[in-house]
Amino acid sequence: MASTRSLVGLGLLLAWLMRFLPSQGILGRVIIQKSQLLRWEDSDYSNNDCVVEQTANGCEDVKIHFDSNTAFLACGDPKGRASWYPGAGRHDAKSRKDFREKLYKYDIKSKKTTELRIEGLGGDFVTHGIDVIAVPGDSSKVHILAVRHSRGDDAISIFEHTLGTDVVTLVKDVQHPTIKTPNGVVAIGPMEFYITNDHYYVSGVKRYLEESFGPWSWATNVVYCDASQAELQCREVAKGFVHANGIAANDGKVFVGDSQNATVSVFEIESDKSLKLDHRVALGAAADNIKVIPSNGDLVVAVFPTLENLPLYLDNTEKLGKDLLVPAAALRLRKSANYEPELLYKDSGAAISFMTAMAIDPYHGVAIGVGVLQYGGFAVCALGEETLKSLQ
Ligand SMILES: *[C@@H]1O[C@H](CO)[C@@H](O)[C@H](O)[C@H]1NC(C)=O
Repeated sequence: MASTRSLVGLGLLLAWLMRFLPSQGILGRVIIQKSQLLRWEDSDYSNNDCVVEQTANGCEDVKIHFDSNTAFLACGDPKGRASWYPGAGRHDAKSRKDFREKLYKYDIKSKKTTELRIEGLGGDFVTHGIDVIAVPGDSSKVHILAVRHSRGDDAISIFEHTLGTDVVTLVKDVQHPTIKTPNGVVAIGPMEFYITNDHYYVSGVKRYLEESFGPWSWATNVVYCDASQAELQCREVAKGFVHANGIAANDGKVFVGDSQNATVSVFEIESDKSLKLDHRVALGAAADNIKVIPSNGDLVVAVFPTLENLPLYLDNTEKLGKDLLVPAAALRLRKSANYEPELLYKDSGAAISFMTAMAIDPYHGVAIGVGVLQYGGFAVCALGEETLKSLQ
């Protein structure tokens, strides 16, 4: 008890002292130039044909399963997140009432949204990144991999879902010391995946110091896990990010978005699943989730075209997208142009404010954007004819 208290005291003293030190470089702190983040700030708004779906709220991530024309969404409770959502720097569990968030499916053809009943998983389920992957040899089934934040250890929950039903059933809840502060997840097999960790410390004084004096260049990473065997194997495969966030994979490559340094890092997947850095793409805006356009292998990266004010959004979730507009944007990184960015979508925030992911369905000409803190959690937008043509 006494030692805990003196540790806390020491931490606070250290925090206080650090205010008097020049911040550059402290403990590997990375200083970001604002110009790195504002390249698209003055570009025109391009969307005008979106319908905001009110059935689901606070959707952080979306993944389209193209064979079944279905988008799967990880959604939740904006108000609850304002109290407790560790990735956003909110740790007040006592003020949050409910720790069960939701998965939805959206049928792109019928435009119908359905909540998915979760079976086999007890305890907390606070959502973040999500991915969906086919089950080899059974075209009626997919696995849904979801980041699961909880008041205990975080996990990646792997669910099985039979297409056309309204149920997901837990296959495995993957916990491992390397899965600390998961943010994004990408499956490369039904039981095999990469995740990003967005912080180094999970909670307590050290986390407070990290949130106050980071970002630190050593703090966030990418972890690979193979959960297909009885013995779970996980290991770090990449680091050196400022704030690793969204993650996607395609064509033997893994793409990692950095929400502080405004880059996408392109990695080659090696035969042992290690990652070898190919190059980093400067986006000109902080990156969140990354999606792949299946028709051409291009990437769609949700970015924040203006400087973020996360505490303001968290404290005004009921106004977000209504009285409080936060511009949203998505960049397209063409595979044929070595993933150089161009603006694909920009929204005043009237459809989706503080947009955290956008998935494109080139076959039905729609873009689905989601907002982690907004009531009315996702929007379905019709793509213009010219955009659509360029996607084929
Ligand atoms: C951070 O951004 C700078 C400038 O774009 C770039 O040179 C550097 O490689 C980036 N680092 C990471 C980890 O993304």
